[in-house]
Amino acid sequence: MVDTKVFLSGIELSNPIIPASGTFGFGAEFERFYDLNILGSISLKGTTAQPRFGNPTPRIAECPSGMLNSVGLQNPGVLEVCETELPRLKEVYIKPVVANISGFSIEEYVECALAMDSQEQVGIIEVNISCPNVHGGGMSFGVSPKAAAEVTRAVKDVCSKPVYIKLSPNVSNIAEIALACEKAGADGISLINTLLAMRIDLKTKKPLLANVMGGLSGPAIFPVALRMVYEVYKAVSIPIIGMGGVSSAEDVIEMMLAGASAVQVGAANLKNPFACKEIIETLPAAMEKYGIDSLSEIIGGAH
Ligand code: FUM
Repeated sequence: MVDTKVFLSGIELSNPIIPASGTFGFGAEFERFYDLNILGSISLKGTTAQPRFGNPTPRIAECPSGMLNSVGLQNPGVLEVCETELPRLKEVYIKPVVANISGFSIEEYVECALAMDSQEQVGIIEVNISCPNVHGGGMSFGVSPKAAAEVTRAVKDVCSKPVYIKLSPNVSNIAEIALACEKAGADGISLINTLLAMRIDLKTKKPLLANVMGGLSGPAIFPVALRMVYEVYKAVSIPIIGMGGVSSAEDVIEMMLAGASAVQVGAANLKNPFACKEIIETLPAAMEKYGIDSLSEIIGGAH
């Protein structure tokens, strides 16, 4: 029998599969499809201090092997998440979850982090400094090592739980940003968020998304994500949650060989709500096929 268990900052996950933030709501929405307790963990929809309606529509576009989104961090605000969404999730999911937070200022990140840190079921705070769909916050913190370090330090100062920083691929040197976060006290790194992209509607001859640009996700970005996880693994010694176009058990194994300790599955959930379940169920056979007894032993094995 193969061993799928992995660890993130001392938290045991029965398998490395975590639905990625923004692709699985606040978890309970997916309860009707299968028993969520098979999941290693769940990364909750990105949460800001105040409720946000998000960007104007259209904010989704399809493309070959992927999709664009410019949702704009739609969420009910951190109070509502703590008072309604987390208790609702607790009824159907018993494991520690990843609370993904976003902000437009360091103060907002700190406010969200403080609120999430006090929630019993939150195991990890995932600080999103990589959302490409909002102006004046999000990704602007993730494209400079100095700004990334400042957010990391401020959030770490108020949290008792492990803090992972979610990085943007829209930079020339992602390892440099990861290293700055590690030096500022990050407990782990999540990567990658979506790649800034756009499409043009041939009928109107104008950008298809109302926000003009959006983030590309899906299988098209998997090799980019893999390359960046590989680079960051070489640069830091804290755990990495790898993500970006993962859609099969084989992709999970590749991500872990590149250096990921756990793997988030994103766009695949939007195409097939059973994607995570299917990956978890096929993982043992894929491990056997490639002669892997224990997943935690292959982390970074490609180096
Ligand atoms: O626009 C969004 O809600 C997406 C967030 C992200 O990619 O971090």
